[in-house]
Amino acid sequence: MSWDEGFAARYDEWSAAMTDDVAFYVELAREADGPLVELAVGNGRVAIPVAQATGRRVVGIDSSPAMLEQARARAAEAGVELELHEGDMRDLALDEPAALIYCPFRALLHLPTWADRRRTFERVATSLRPDGRFAWNAFAFDHRIAAALDGEHQDEPMPHTIRYAVGDNRVDIILDDGATSSLWWATKNEWLGLLDVAGLEVEALYGGFDREPFGDESREYVFVAARCT
Ligand SMILES: C[S@@+](CC[C@H](N)C(=O)[O-])C[C@H]1O[C@@H](n2cnc3c(N)ncnc32)[C@H](O)[C@@H]1O
Repeated sequence: MSWDEGFAARYDEWSAAMTDDVAFYVELAREADGPLVELAVGNGRVAIPVAQATGRRVVGIDSSPAMLEQARARAAEAGVELELHEGDMRDLALDEPAALIYCPFRALLHLPTWADRRRTFERVATSLRPDGRFAWNAFAFDHRIAAALDGEHQDEPMPHTIRYAVGDNRVDIILDDGATSSLWWATKNEWLGLLDVAGLEVEALYGGFDREPFGDESREYVFVAARCT
């Protein structure tokens, strides 16, 4: 299982330190002239500020009823409109082509196989306007980080243990109560291959949310892609 519902109740706490990405996705949304769509919208952590900043409705898709419930409550509290759909991003189908489809906080890594991601990228490509953009971020696997963290118990942001299954390019985040979230990392060439087969192309690849260039020492892929011209 890639996302254990047990994580949902703790998600606010888990994601509290992740704030750098919001301005980046807000900026892309401001530049987009048309429908905005977040894949794996979760509790609306990014979608709500995007809707606030643009004054526009954001369509959010997520497979977790518990996360969507939180997104609904938080959007109502913030007084913004989110159009939330329970569904799998692999089956993305929109009523209207999007000007921006984005997927923050490494959520594409919850898809276990390359085929799952290919299907998602193909769905994204057919769901974009001709001038639409697709943006996402994902960590770059670093064997030094893996060696240091594997099996180590950590207290922040809440008690958990991280385990690496290198043969399956998978990292399991296991909360002390047993709730587990798994991520399957991907290399730069895998991301480029996914774009290629889906008929998309890289517009920019950054190494972080300040739009610094991606380099050998970068540990985060921040991609902005567009349909091939
Ligand atoms: C790390 S959270 C990200 C939530 C939000 N985008 C954010 O940035 O805070 C990952 C989310 O991915 C969702 N998810 C996992 N697999 C999914 C899938 N196949 N289709 C749609 N959502 C999925 C989970 O339910 C969870 O809400």
